[in-house]
Amino acid sequence: MWLSRLFALLFLAAVAVEGQVKWWESATLYQVYPRSLKDTNGDGVGDIRGIIQVIPHLVEAGIDTVWLSPIYKSPMKDFGYDISDFYSVDPIFGTWDDFLALVRFLRDAGLRLVMDMVPNHTSDEHDWFLRSVNREDPFTDYYIWKDSLGVDANGTQIPPNNWLSAFAGSAWQWNEQRQQFYLHQFTAGQPDLDYRNPLVLQEMKNVLRFWLDNGVDGFRIDAPPHIIEHADFADEPPTNDPECPEQQFCQLQHIYTMNQPETLDVLREFRKTIDEYQIETGRVIVLMSEPSNLHNFTMSYYGTEADPIMDFPFNFNFIYDLPAETLAIDIQNAIEKWILDMPAGKTPNWVTGNHDQKRTRARQGAEFAIALNMINLLLPGVSVTYYGEEINMDNTFITWEQTQDPQGCNAGPDNYFLYSRDPERTPFQWNDQLNAGFTSGVSTWLPVNENYLELNLEAQRAEVRSEFKIYQALTEARKTAPAIILGNLNYVIVEEYVFAFTREITGAADNYLVVINSGYADARVNIRAALPQLPEIGFAYVTSLDSLITANDPVVLSDCQIVARGGLVILWK
Ligand code: GLC
Repeated sequence: MWLSRLFALLFLAAVAVEGQVKWWESATLYQVYPRSLKDTNGDGVGDIRGIIQVIPHLVEAGIDTVWLSPIYKSPMKDFGYDISDFYSVDPIFGTWDDFLALVRFLRDAGLRLVMDMVPNHTSDEHDWFLRSVNREDPFTDYYIWKDSLGVDANGTQIPPNNWLSAFAGSAWQWNEQRQQFYLHQFTAGQPDLDYRNPLVLQEMKNVLRFWLDNGVDGFRIDAPPHIIEHADFADEPPTNDPECPEQQFCQLQHIYTMNQPETLDVLREFRKTIDEYQIETGRVIVLMSEPSNLHNFTMSYYGTEADPIMDFPFNFNFIYDLPAETLAIDIQNAIEKWILDMPAGKTPNWVTGNHDQKRTRARQGAEFAIALNMINLLLPGVSVTYYGEEINMDNTFITWEQTQDPQGCNAGPDNYFLYSRDPERTPFQWNDQLNAGFTSGVSTWLPVNENYLELNLEAQRAEVRSEFKIYQALTEARKTAPAIILGNLNYVIVEEYVFAFTREITGAADNYLVVINSGYADARVNIRAALPQLPEIGFAYVTSLDSLITANDPVVLSDCQIVARGGLVILWK
């Protein structure tokens, strides 16, 4: 017997009691990797004016909130995640006036702006670090400095412990001038701030307020698991993982460098600043974060109703928990692992890709990537799209010589492709012109995917059926359909490879049924047997590109065909 499960939207019930739904609870978030969206000055790197120029695309795609990866001043050792001035924009992206114009134009277009906030570290070119090297107070203890354990036979300074950088090699860098090591959990150009120093926390709170004063609607907190380290600085135990290359992060169990309980206190302090700001201004601000690698710790980032922390940490279950041979139960588990484990009264969110992960299409294939957009955009809560996913962009092959990402470079020529994040960061494919219309210049910072002649926005806008048209229909439903905005979620495993869910609400003109076939063979199923509330006939809303069923076609729900790796979205009453 099928067991269909109902997830009543407790968060909406809770909100109804308070009497207001916050804008971000149903946001359709779009991550812009600013180097790669659109270049207007011909230097081959995307810029703020580029983002302004393509606002019509963002509106047409139907997204409502932009999350911008860092645009702050930076030597770009980690492409903006190494910030040398939290209060200014890097010239490669434009000027301060460009930024203000971006805020204004987005707002005029009805879009909101969320900034990336990187609290764990600064650039080694940040003024605080330069002064810390000089032991200038109050900056002396802004970073994690430790003495050397002595000198080895080669005359090399011995680091305080065995900690490794997430980008490979020792997490300690010797500083000649200060005659001490500093900790860096990412590149050596990203020294770790010391959050046991209250002045550091205060600096970051000031940064949050500055950007809020300048019109941003919220923040995505970067790398929270790394914010605080254990105070004893003991060696971390080895994983003894035979698959893990030497010097890579996977060599150690990160029990002292990641997920320390005090992390939550720091995040709570950020929450406090946001709450104070909301009370002072009456504005509603969103605070979201990267997840932890540990599921339970990720859930604790939410806090509770009485002690809220993040509005939500990102949910990477669709990235990590769906094997290439996906079963219906894998999809159900990925969904349940979030909505059942999430603290009461909180809002779920769904992410299929980002700037650190292979593109969805590269992980799951072109067809299933589209089906995943249907799931991602029609489940309750916040939906997150990585730029390019609306046209189903693919990973791009990058040679060792072309490699830019420090994680790829550190892995060396034999292993770079296992670690490099360049393949998912290539320029957006606007059209079939030179460089896919990304730049007026002759070259681009990362190569454009060769498939751009066929795979580009302009082509997909011209097609009657395309990935972009599907994406638009899905975001349209998010904006206009009460069953998607407020409806309950019912889900069921119909067959080994067929997963289905409904979004329904009493009195709606249309309820929704989403049927996903994760198998590699076409399927024919009786969905009414699994979800008896369904009528005999529904009408197709959007369907996979190779489906014979197209929009508005009647669909017999007791005998329904879904193409391999495809999806159907059906309207029913
Ligand atoms: C986060 C970012 C990643 C960056 C790292 C260091 O994981 O998503 O791109 O390299 O933090 O800031």
